[in-house]
Amino acid sequence: MRVVLIAANWKMHKTVAETLDFARALAPLVRDVSDVEIAIAPPFTALAALGAALRGSRVALAAQNAHFEAKGAFTGEISVAMLADVGCTYVILGHSERRALFGETDAFIARKLRAVQAAGLRPILCVGESLAEREAGRTFGVLRAQLEGSLAEAEAARAAELVVAYEPVWAIGTGKTATPELAQEAHAFVRARLADRFGASAQSIRIQYGGSVKPENAAELMAQPDIDGALVGGASLDPLGFSAIIRFRERRAGVSG
Ligand code: 13P
Repeated sequence: MRVVLIAANWKMHKTVAETLDFARALAPLVRDVSDVEIAIAPPFTALAALGAALRGSRVALAAQNAHFEAKGAFTGEISVAMLADVGCTYVILGHSERRALFGETDAFIARKLRAVQAAGLRPILCVGESLAEREAGRTFGVLRAQLEGSLAEAEAARAAELVVAYEPVWAIGTGKTATPELAQEAHAFVRARLADRFGASAQSIRIQYGGSVKPENAAELMAQPDIDGALVGGASLDPLGFSAIIRFRERRAGVSG
């Protein structure tokens, strides 16, 4: 059984004080939720403070990026050992914003992924097609190339710890969510490629959906057989909204509408 993982990707939002306010507000809202794993990826500047605040809680700490070198003259970069030091469990890699705005290639992401695994941390590898690629019928080719390239150096023995986030670029920050059927089709394709690469371990790998996930659409997305969680941007900035996504099962059962 794959445990659903709901993760907040705050991108470039929140100061340390705002981060701690959020953590204080979220705790009572999710205290009784036991069947969903929760993670928060704040900006680097808030990692240490949030890590200390979350210690002993059920909420895991995640980073939004990492560098593959252990140390050295890499101005502006953060190593995986530094992330482990402040209590990170997960590291988001290959987000479409890093690929599009900062020129990250699959080969570059593959090196980071190997470093994250070697440090005993868990990668959340993002893949997804642009609108132009989808309209040109290239979605599956793009996903295949991103998975093959970014997982080129992955350690098969740690495959079950891997998380993949399918984030169609046209759905990120646009309010346009993929339909559950369309997302499931992409997730099933991703899982089949993970099975090509890792065999039976692919059944243990969580595949999150990301792209305009909100309290209103989380339950029907999560009802799909290959959707094992969500990577949430905008809607994760507010503790009430984020907790409503974490509590998606109540909505599915009709408890909260
Ligand atoms: P939004 O939820 O704001 O669309 O962002 C999704 C995302 O990029 C998460 O990594």
